[in-house]
Amino acid sequence: MQKLEQVYEGKAKKVFKTDDPELFIVDYKDDATALNGKKKGTISGKGVINNKMTNILMQKMEKAGIPTHFVKELSDRETLVKKVSIVPLEVIVRNISAGHFASRYGVEEGIVFETPTIEFSYKCDALDDPLLNEYHALALKLATREEIDTIKKYSFGVNDVLKAFWADCGVTLVDFKLEFGKLSDGTIVLADEISPDTCRLWDSKTNEKLDKDRFRRDMGGVEDAYTEVMNRLLAHE
Ligand code: TMP
Repeated sequence: MQKLEQVYEGKAKKVFKTDDPELFIVDYKDDATALNGKKKGTISGKGVINNKMTNILMQKMEKAGIPTHFVKELSDRETLVKKVSIVPLEVIVRNISAGHFASRYGVEEGIVFETPTIEFSYKCDALDDPLLNEYHALALKLATREEIDTIKKYSFGVNDVLKAFWADCGVTLVDFKLEFGKLSDGTIVLADEISPDTCRLWDSKTNEKLDKDRFRRDMGGVEDAYTEVMNRLLAHE
């Protein structure tokens, strides 16, 4: 598989064309941003961990019947994926209050919900990814009713699989962000990544944060936290 020109550079990944028009190569960086790019830094070794973790978790989703863009891991930082057009919605599923849920609604972190919540943001850096509901997404033609229903079904499915798996690893899945893409035939698949950049993961016994909040909140021990969750995942894979 030949890596051709770069088609996109995001905050944490670069995407390249290949000699197959239906396949792209994703290349994970160590760059970290928070507050929609206003805070920048590096988390050494993050790209390698996020690449491998995402690929292991994407394959678990496939096994559970949730289609993904994953094709094949090529190297420490590179993965072959199906070419998709990203649906411009960030989908956030929450099991426990934290982050923007806690600040937006004025509640403490750590409230365990009886039922998981789902919310959507319009993926648009210039507007700081504003929160929107399904009607807004339909009005803006970001997705069809059928696509939104599929995305919701898959997102709760991801939550079920991910929550159970992390629990086996002694990790509580607090919340996470997903992105979906459309294949050239219109099929919706899970895309982007599933990693400590995009999930809140707390140690089940101590509630210690093992995710990017350590970077967002200048808590230190960021690399150690990423390594710890990766090691736990590998031990329970
Ligand atoms: P939030 O509490 O800041 O809305 O974040 C909820 C979850 O989504 C958390 O696990 C972090 C993740 N997330 C991203 O991956 N990218 C983003 O741009 C945002 C806002 C959240």
